[in-house]
Amino acid sequence: MCGIVGYIGHRNAVDVILKGLKRLEYRGYDSAGVAISNGKLTIQKCKGKVSQLEKLIKANYPHGTMGIGHTRWATHGEPNDVNAHPHQAGDYKFAIVHNGIIENYDALKKELIQKGHFFEGETDTEVLAHLIQEVKKVGLTDFETAVQMALNQVDGTYGLAILNLDEPDKLIVARKGSPLLLGIGDNEVFVASDASPIIEYTKKVVYLDDDEMAIITPDGYQVKTISNIELSKEVHELEMNIEQIEKGGFPHFMLKEIHEQAQTISDCMRGRLMVDENRIVLGGISDVLDRIVNAKRLVIAACGTSWHAGMVGEYMFEHMAKLPVEVEYASEFRYRDPLIGPDDVLLVISQSGETADTLAALREAKAKGALVIGICNVVGSTIARETDAGVYTHAGPEIGVASTKAFTAQVTVLAMMAILLGQKRGTLTKECSRDIIKELNTIPAKVAQILEKLDDVDTISRLFAYASNFLYLGRSYNFPVALEGALKLKEISYIHAEGYPAAEMKHGPIALIDEHMPVVVIAVNDHTNEKMISNIEEVRARKGRLIAITNEDNHDVRRLAEFSITVPQTHDSLSPLLTVIPLQLLSYQIAVYRKCNVDQPRNLAKSVTVE
Ligand code: AGP
Ligand code: GLU
Repeated sequence: MCGIVGYIGHRNAVDVILKGLKRLEYRGYDSAGVAISNGKLTIQKCKGKVSQLEKLIKANYPHGTMGIGHTRWATHGEPNDVNAHPHQAGDYKFAIVHNGIIENYDALKKELIQKGHFFEGETDTEVLAHLIQEVKKVGLTDFETAVQMALNQVDGTYGLAILNLDEPDKLIVARKGSPLLLGIGDNEVFVASDASPIIEYTKKVVYLDDDEMAIITPDGYQVKTISNIELSKEVHELEMNIEQIEKGGFPHFMLKEIHEQAQTISDCMRGRLMVDENRIVLGGISDVLDRIVNAKRLVIAACGTSWHAGMVGEYMFEHMAKLPVEVEYASEFRYRDPLIGPDDVLLVISQSGETADTLAALREAKAKGALVIGICNVVGSTIARETDAGVYTHAGPEIGVASTKAFTAQVTVLAMMAILLGQKRGTLTKECSRDIIKELNTIPAKVAQILEKLDDVDTISRLFAYASNFLYLGRSYNFPVALEGALKLKEISYIHAEGYPAAEMKHGPIALIDEHMPVVVIAVNDHTNEKMISNIEEVRARKGRLIAITNEDNHDVRRLAEFSITVPQTHDSLSPLLTVIPLQLLSYQIAVYRKCNVDQPRNLAKSVTVE
């Protein structure tokens, strides 16, 4: 995970880097550091957030027009000052920041210790620094070759940036498995883990691919493979703008992103949902549509919230397109030697497009001959580039660690895909598809309606802010929403929460219910409503505190529940797009009452680039 920023040019490097690290803090925030080169290497680093580092830097401001910085999400070694990046080797001639894991660090470290190296901390990154130094010494090579040779000896993943005192106008960066891009300005070059730190300086970017490195000077860059073959890379134009990555008056990014959903869902459908023509156009998969239509099976692989969206997709594809679907945790799929082949399609779903588990699943399925398609939010991300075809969610940058608008955009894309496949496979009648398309078109207005009245959510949040456990129950399309509601609460408020298919409650979790247990039931007017009402009665009989997400006219549910939050009526398959909104708000409000760090919850990172 972690965020990397590098700069070489004419500005004060430390300003560019600190500002950039703050934007990347969603990727990791347990420690941070910078190295500035100006005839000497000044390194400042500490445990804690970038604001801590900023204080340190204010006291001793390092001038210089070239530097690297890092905000860490520890994988090896506790988050403390010593383990914070940048790291150096014994000669203190160069400094390195790294995102990823050196998997064979232990063996390498033992060898290096035998050769006389001394380590200050516990990170795998420090081992890489020493390895570079050792290779350089033994091979009597130039620094760049030493970096290449060292990288050839490591297993694992890296996005890295290195400053070397002996070559004071050169920055070396390399990538394998962890994202890195270059921002090309006028006589200045930026390096970052994603585009947010560089957007205000330049829109021209070069994405590094795996096994590539770049040698950067103030007036240019050369990209080559780690094995030293020079490459000519395409320069892309960024489409995002600075407003999208600022809070815009909201106290937290998460709240801003929750409120953006009417807009993001509509952005996601723009140019794709042709209501009058009863037609869906998904340009990104048009070339492979026949293969998807004729697939034997669709396997969906994703993690976390994206996995929940995938589960909603499963119900949609099976219902509308009568296509057999399996939804897999990407990490489990990857290591099971999965039975997948040329007749199957793997659909990977990822907001960041960088999730290591999902990327590994994608590569596994590709290697076995399956067609791999994707639903991604971040344009140009690794998953977006490695899939055979795909659809962007166009939700704009999602910065809050807890995913909100990405989920509803993913579900919107899945709905459009399912309708399209249903039409092409002849499993969805014209009337049915017309109904769903028309209804999908009304969703943004209905989301806006939910976001207008937040009093109920606030009352409930205040009342239950100090509960120790929560249970979330739903059926059919709203079972994944129950899982998502529970995940949101866990992530940002640290309250233990479980999501269950409502019927499963009686097979175990019902034992937990007493007068202290808040039970959130998603019980809208759909084909499971009768059964949900029975489950609600079962909770009531055990004195559970019932909070219902339901419809205004669902008098039965509203009468039975202690609290109700209502959402507008919609088609069964689209109801997750509405029912999830109050659950996002509930977890947000509870986290605020508990004074938790909403946008950067403990132990988490937005982009999980380690397996
Ligand atoms: C969501 O709130 C979580 N932070 C997390 O579960 C996330 O959805 C998961 O890590 C997958 O990320 P991705 O969509 O970027 O692949
Ligand atoms: N593995 C390195 C560490 O633990 C880098 C982690 C990261 O990507 O932040 O320090």
